[in-house]
Amino acid sequence: MSASGPAPLSGRPVTITGLGAHVPAKVVTNDDLAKVLDTSDEWIRQRTGIRERRVAEAGLSSSDLGITAAREALADAGVSASSIDLVITATISPDRMMPATAARIAHDCGCGNAGAYDVSAGCTGFVYALAMAAGAVASGLHNQVLVVGAETISRIIDWEDRSTAILFGDGAGAVVVSVCGSSPGFGVAHSSLDTRGSGGILGFDLGGDGAGEELLLIPAGGSRLPASCATVEARQHFMKMNGREVYKFATRVIAQSAGRVLERCGREMDEIDLFVPHQANLRIIDAAVEKLGMAKEKVYTNLQEYGNTSCASIPLCLCGARAEGRLHQGDLILLMGFGAGLTWGSCLMEWGQTGMGRAGRGHASEGEGGAGNTRAADGRRD
Ligand code: COA
Repeated sequence: MSASGPAPLSGRPVTITGLGAHVPAKVVTNDDLAKVLDTSDEWIRQRTGIRERRVAEAGLSSSDLGITAAREALADAGVSASSIDLVITATISPDRMMPATAARIAHDCGCGNAGAYDVSAGCTGFVYALAMAAGAVASGLHNQVLVVGAETISRIIDWEDRSTAILFGDGAGAVVVSVCGSSPGFGVAHSSLDTRGSGGILGFDLGGDGAGEELLLIPAGGSRLPASCATVEARQHFMKMNGREVYKFATRVIAQSAGRVLERCGREMDEIDLFVPHQANLRIIDAAVEKLGMAKEKVYTNLQEYGNTSCASIPLCLCGARAEGRLHQGDLILLMGFGAGLTWGSCLMEWGQTGMGRAGRGHASEGEGGAGNTRAADGRRD
C-alpha cells in the first residue's frame, strides 16, 4: 500500500466521548490450562506474556458482554440510548451467522430504530468499526455512533489445541463516537465540555491481504464449507492458526501501518503519548515497539490479565488506561489492530474529554481515577 493513500479524516471533527468495558468474572489461569492441556505456566508466560484470561459462563454470548459494555459507554458519555443513530459491533465470535450481533445489542440497550451491523475483520474489527463510525459522523451521515467490540472466543476455540487455546480470552469494550463538543446529548453544545487541544480522531490506515486467508480461520460453518457431522467431527468449526506466520505478519505490519497513519496526519512517532496495540502477544508488541523506536513506557498492555480478547482488546485497554490516569486531554494516541483476513488498521487521535456522564452523576471524571471503568475492567459484575 502506498504511503500517500487516503487523506486524514476531514469533515466535522469527531471524537470518542464515552468508554465502557466488561469482562466475565471467571478467571482461567495458565496453571488451570496446564491441568487439561500439555502446556505450562512458564511456557505460556515466556512465549506470550499471558498469565490468565476471562471465560464467559455457559449461556452467555458476545452480545451479553457487549450490552453491558455498551450501556456503560452510553452512561459515560452522558447520552441517551435513543440518541444513537447506528450501532456497529466488531466481533469474530458473533452470536449467530445471522442476524448481526449489533441488532441485539442495539435493541437491548434501547437504541430504538438505530441502524445495526457487524464488522468482520478479524482482530482488526474494532479499528475498522471505529473508522466506519468516524467517517459516518464526520460526513454528517450520522451524529452519534456506538461501536462495540464483543467477544466470547472461548466458544470458537478448540480447547484440545494448545497452540490456540492458551492465547484468547472473553470480554467486551465499547465507545461512543460523536462530533467534538456535542456530548452530552447530540447536537447540544455543552458549555462545560472543554475540547481545547483536542483534534479528536485525526486519521486511519486500514489494509488487508487476502492471500493470508488460510493462516487464521474457522474452516467450516460458512458457505464455503457448510456445517455437517463430518466438519464437526473434524473440529473444523474451531479456530485454526499458523502461529509462526501470523507472528511474522504482525511484527511487520504494526510498524508499517503506524508509520503510514503518522505520515498521513503529518505527525511524528516521538509525539505519541500512548500506544494501544491489539493485545495478541507481548513478544509481538515488544518487537514492534523496538522497530518503531518507541519508549516502552508509552505502550499500554493488558494481555497479561485478559489474553487476546480480539475486537475487545483496544477498547478494554482504553478503559484500563483511563482508569490508571494514562489518558489526558490532548494526548496523541495511536491505536493499532491486526488479525485474520489478513487485516490491519491504525488510528491516530488526540484524546478528548470523556466521562461527562459520570461526572454529571458525581463519579470521578477524566484524570480523576475513572472509577466506573476500573470496576468494569476488573471483571466484577454490576
Ligand atoms: N505449550 C507448550 N508447548 C507448546 C504450546 C503450548 N501451549 N504451543 C505450542 N507448543 C510447542 C510446539 O508444539 C513446538 O514444539 P516442537 O518444537 O516440539 O514442535 C514448540 O512449542 C514451539 O512452537 P512454535 O509454534 O514455534 O512456538 P512460538 O514460539 O512460535 O510460539 C505462538 C507460538 C502461538 C505463541 C506464537 O507463534 C504466536 O504468538 N503467534 C501469533 C499468534 C497470534 O497472535 N494470533 C492472533 C493474531 S490476532
